[in-house]
This record gives sequence, structure tokens and C-alpha cells, in this order.
Amino acid sequence: MSFSKLSKNHISNLSELVISLQRGEYENVLSQTEQIDIPIEDLLPYINWKAERYTRNCVARDEYFELILLCWEKGQKTAIHCHDEQECWVKVIFGSFAEVIYTHDEEAGEMEYESSEVLSENEVTSIIESKFFHSLENVNSGRSMSLHLYMRPIAKCRVYNKQTKQLEMKELSYDSLSGKRL
Ligand code: SIN
Repeated sequence: MSFSKLSKNHISNLSELVISLQRGEYENVLSQTEQIDIPIEDLLPYINWKAERYTRNCVARDEYFELILLCWEKGQKTAIHCHDEQECWVKVIFGSFAEVIYTHDEEAGEMEYESSEVLSENEVTSIIESKFFHSLENVNSGRSMSLHLYMRPIAKCRVYNKQTKQLEMKELSYDSLSGKRL
């Protein structure tokens, strides 16, 4: 591969990432998810914290993708959920997360543990098989931030209710869109 081709495709900041996604250059983006080192200054307009839950801040979206910055106070976590059959990549911007993967045993109404890992800065996890559910928790000693790419955008997802052992549909919303608080 020539140098010009390499330098043309290399993503080194948030606007290059968004432009690449808007152009539909998904292979280019997905081939360098671990290497993309987004300067924190690029993310400042989207940073938003809430004491009661993590926030979802949409950086960019179109019909095919959704790029969201999640801001987590210490200990904040998701329920066990799936991604409405869309593929998803999560990159840790700073801090650390515990991810637990499950499959759903419909007959027993139970979540079956599959695996777990701790993700640190710049690490990427993905869910590309619709049979998997997962949960994420900020296990850092302070705040954490993560960048999520969904293809396609996700408006709702199934969430596991531990008390009733039922799956419930949850509508997803943003706390900010393109840097504007909602
Ligand atoms: C969310 O998008 O709110 C959940 C985070 C994830 O599992 O990707």
C-alpha cells in the first residue's frame, strides 16, 4: 500500500472519523478502531454528566450509523440489554469498564453468563451477533467515557428485568444532540 493511501485513510481526530462514517467508509473505520486516538478536546462539546445515570450524547448520525459519547460517573452501569439486532462497537476513551456477555435462555427466563472482561483506555469491544446480550459498568475509581458506534442507529432495545425475569422493551434517548443539551 502506498504512503498516500495510508495517510489518506488514517483517522486521527473526531471530524475525520465522522466524515469517514458519513462517506460510508465503514471498513476504513472498523479496521482502525483500536488505533484511532481521538483528542479529548474534540469531545468537549459532547461531554455531559448526570449523578443519577450515565448520559448518551449523539455526536453524529445518519440512516446507517449512530456515533454516541457516553459519560459515566463512578459505578454507573447499564441493565443487561441487547442492541436491537444492530452491530455495535465500544471504545474506551478514558477510565475502565466491566463488560459481561450473556445469552438468553427463553425457556428458563434466565440470562446465561458467557464471559466477562475489563476494558481499559483505547480498548474496543464489539457485539456483532444478535444472540448476545451484555452489560457495561464503569469500574474506574472516578468518571469514565466511552464512544459507541451503532450500525444502524438504535431507537429501542430489549432489557432484562432481573426481578420479573422478563425482557422489556426500552426506548433509547439522547441527553444531547450535536453538542446541544436536550
Ligand atoms: C447504551 O447505548 O445506552 C448502552 C451502551 C451499550 O451497550 O453500547
